[in-house]
Amino acid sequence: MTNNNNISQQREEYGKATLNRSDLNPDPFQQLELWLNNAYASKVKEPNAMSVCTVNKDGQPSSRMVLMRGFDNRGLVFYTNYKSKKGSEIEQHAKVALLFFWADLQQQIRIEGTCERVSEEQSNQYFKSRPLKSQAASKVSPQSIIIENRKMLEDLYENEWKQAEAIQQVERPEHWGGFLVQPNYFEFWQGRPSRLHDRFQYVLNKTVWNINRLAP
Ligand SMILES: Cc1cc2nc3c(=O)[nH]c(=O)nc-3n(C[C@H](O)[C@H](O)[C@H](O)COP(=O)(O)O)c2cc1C
Repeated sequence: MTNNNNISQQREEYGKATLNRSDLNPDPFQQLELWLNNAYASKVKEPNAMSVCTVNKDGQPSSRMVLMRGFDNRGLVFYTNYKSKKGSEIEQHAKVALLFFWADLQQQIRIEGTCERVSEEQSNQYFKSRPLKSQAASKVSPQSIIIENRKMLEDLYENEWKQAEAIQQVERPEHWGGFLVQPNYFEFWQGRPSRLHDRFQYVLNKTVWNINRLAP
């Protein structure tokens, strides 16, 4: 096994903060808000970036980063191409896992739940709020499909952009929109010295969130 950059011997000391049962809000969405606000205040870059893990019909998981674009106590929302790999996997099997990691804060948040499309109205509203160039790109990119070369993509984009620029508008394509992840599980992880990290899980039991400390 290669050990470039002395990877096997690199060790980050964790110890920036502690997480105690008494610090936790009984509502995991409010706890998420608290941590997210702190991440923004601490100037973490793109703290709303999260990994979304989906599973295909053979049980093969796959992960990728997306940007979380909002949440409330119904769940967390991200936007994507419904025909992409993740989009088709979610349509076949609605269970997903999300992951936030903020290295500077030594914090990780794990979320598990089920996923469904947001309303067309919500997707339209968000689509319109994006820069016109992003709208044009989302419209023409056949996300996750093998393409011959970059030029083919740029040609598709240029063509769409000419029309979009002229009328200052792009219609949201049906294949693009939001997913709402409705969690039934949260875990908040805070790095601590000697690898004795603090971990708390929230498990949804009907309408009640049960909170437990986990061993690191
Ligand atoms: C920081 C970051 C944010 C991203 N945000 C999104 C996003 O919000 N929506 C999206 O569809 N892809 C986003 N991507 C690209 C995805 O990671 C991925 O390449 C793409 O969605 C195709 O994934 P799939 O083939 O597994 O469906 C982002 C990538 C990075 C690194």
